[in-house]
Formats: sequence, structure tokens, C-alpha cells
Amino acid sequence: MRLAPQPSAQPLRLIVLLLLTTGVIASPVLSAGCPDRCVCDDQLVVQCAGKHLTTFPVNLPLATRQLIISNNRIVELPPLALNYLSDLVYLDCSNNSLTEISESTFGNLRKLAYLDLSFNTLTRIEDRTFGPLLSLVMLRMTDNPGLSEIHPDAFAENAALQVLDVSRNNLTALNITSLIALPALRSVGLSGNPWSCECDNEDLCLWVHLEGFKFQDEGQTVCGSPADMQGRRLGEVGIQLRTLCHQTLGSWDYLFFVVIGFVIFAAGTVSAWVMGVIMVLYERYIKKKDEQLDVDEEEESKETGRTSRSRSDHDNGNLKTSHTV
Ligand SMILES: *[C@@H]1O[C@H](CO)[C@@H](O)[C@H](O)[C@H]1NC(C)=O
Ligand SMILES: *[C@@H]1O[C@H](CO)[C@@H](O)[C@H](O)[C@H]1NC(C)=O
Ligand SMILES: *[C@@H]1O[C@H](CO)[C@@H](O)[C@H](O)[C@H]1NC(C)=O
Repeated sequence: MRLAPQPSAQPLRLIVLLLLTTGVIASPVLSAGCPDRCVCDDQLVVQCAGKHLTTFPVNLPLATRQLIISNNRIVELPPLALNYLSDLVYLDCSNNSLTEISESTFGNLRKLAYLDLSFNTLTRIEDRTFGPLLSLVMLRMTDNPGLSEIHPDAFAENAALQVLDVSRNNLTALNITSLIALPALRSVGLSGNPWSCECDNEDLCLWVHLEGFKFQDEGQTVCGSPADMQGRRLGEVGIQLRTLCHQTLGSWDYLFFVVIGFVIFAAGTVSAWVMGVIMVLYERYIKKKDEQLDVDEEEESKETGRTSRSRSDHDNGNLKTSHTV
């Protein structure tokens, strides 16, 4: 998705170089010149706000540290002209007509700490758009009514980022995987977007729920869809979504449980009945056997009674005989 070098880049570079050299020759100071309609001061601040510019100003001092081009109708940030300004720390492009920025737009601005792209007409942010901005601390990108897509890794390399404001755009979802990994991030503006409060955006809602203190205007950070969640705060639906989205049981599972429950119940009933029958039969059998035993025993005991008596008679006889002997 990176932009191929534009064919016009080479001649443009020559023209810029030519302009710069004529500027340097014409003036004793290196950072000579100041763009038409802009005000440049000796603090290397170039102020071009509200000057009805439709193109990026030319003839900027090379050492410019602050550039303010807000409140114009500039449609494009030309990568070549912008990246000559390698000392730029502060860039305010708010309230223009920018429709596109890419990785090459900010390719060389390693010292840039503040960037404002609010009130433009951006529609999407590609991967690595802000990648080269290693010193970026604050990024404001609010009020782009058509901005509906930010690549998951758009801010992945901005390790210095502390404040990110993407309020009042047209965002429905934001993949926070790389955002939550940014070590310095302490303030995030998300309000005024039509956030989706469905499972695809569960992570964002949970993040707002868990770290609400990080979010500006958290009360205005609300769901835009689905219809039954509209107007509810992201932080409030976070837990609800977590429960909802990890419910893996479908209607077939419930049916399965009902059937299994019935089977267990039926098996229990049948086996209890069978056991009952067996017990009754067993008891009857035992009783019968006992009765038979009793009868046998009685008969036996009668018999044994007779024999023992006869034996004692016989013994007595013996004794008598032995005594007489
Ligand atoms: C944007 O700039 C125009 C002038 O170009 C100005 O009239 C308008 O008030 C500005 N809007 C904001 C929100 O600053
Ligand atoms: C915002 O995005 C939705 C689709 O998600 C689109 O239908 C709508 O036109 C967009 N709004 C603007 C102002 O571009
Ligand atoms: C977020 O982005 C990362 C990588 O950029 C990807 O692995 C992950 O699946 C994405 N998460 C969602 C919920 O889309």
C-alpha cells in the first residue's frame, strides 16, 4: 500500500533545490525568505493561518520549527516540500481540505512532536501513516466527518505518543491492539463517533470500561449501533459485551442439553422401577426360602430331640453298668 515514487518527483525536487539556492544566494541568512502572505519570526515560527491558501506554501525557511497553515483550503500536503523541513516540531494543518495522507507525507519529520489534522476531509488512515514520526507526542485528528477507517497499525511506531484525539469522526470500530501497547499514551479522545457496540468492537468497549480515566469526554463516547444500544456509553456496555460475545452455546446446544436431561431422567426412572421390582422379587424369594428353612429346621430339631434323648438314656445305662462294675 506504499506509494510508488511519483514520476514528477525528480523535476519537482530540482525546482525546489533551485528555489532554495536562489534564496540562499539572495540573502545572507541561511533560512532566508518567507512564503507569500505568511509571517515568519526569528523563533523559526511560520504563521500562515487564514490566508486563503489553496496550496502548501512555498519558500519556507529550511529551519522552520513551527508551521501553522490552519484555516485555509489547502488540498494536499506535498511530501517533498514538507520533508525538507527536518527540524519541524509543530505542524498545525487544521481546518483545510486535506483528503489524503500517507506514509510518504511525513517521511522525514523525526522531530515533529505536535500534529493537528482536525477539520479536514480525510476518509481513511493507512498503515504506517505516522510511522516515521518517532517524536510525536500529540496527534489531533478530530472533525473529519468522513473518516471511517484507521488501520490497526497506523500508530504502532509512535512510542512517544501521549495524547491522541480522534473525536467527532465517522469511526465505528477501532482495533486497539497496537494502541494499548503504546507506553506513554495517557489521553484518548473518542467521543462523537458512531461506535459499533457489537462483538467486533468488544476490545475497545472493554478498554474504555477498564481505563475510563484515560478518555476525554467519556460520557459522550457512546454507541451508534446496534439500535438497542444507541446512546449507551462504551464503558458501560464493555462487560455486557464480554459476556455476550463469549457465549459459545447455540440453540442446538440447548436442545442437546434438554434431550440429554430427558434421557437421564427416563433412564433413572426406569432403572429405579426395575430395581424396585428386583427388590420385591428378591424379598419374596428370601421369605419363601426362610419359611422353607424354618419348616426343615423344625422337622430336624424334632428328630434331633428324639435321638439325643435316646442317647442319654443309653449313656445313663452305661454309667450305671460301669458303676456297678
Ligand atoms: C475554518 O476556516 C475558515 C476560514 O477559511 C473559518 O471561516 C472557519 O471559522 C474555520 N472553522 C473552524 C472550525 O475553525
Ligand atoms: C459514515 O460512514 C457510513 C458507513 O459506515 C456512511 O454510510 C456515511 O455516509 C459516512 N458519513 C459520512 C459523512 O461520510
Ligand atoms: C487487530 O489487528 C491485529 C494486527 O494488526 C490482528 O492480529 C487482530 O486480529 C485484529 N483484531 C481484530 C479484533 O480485528
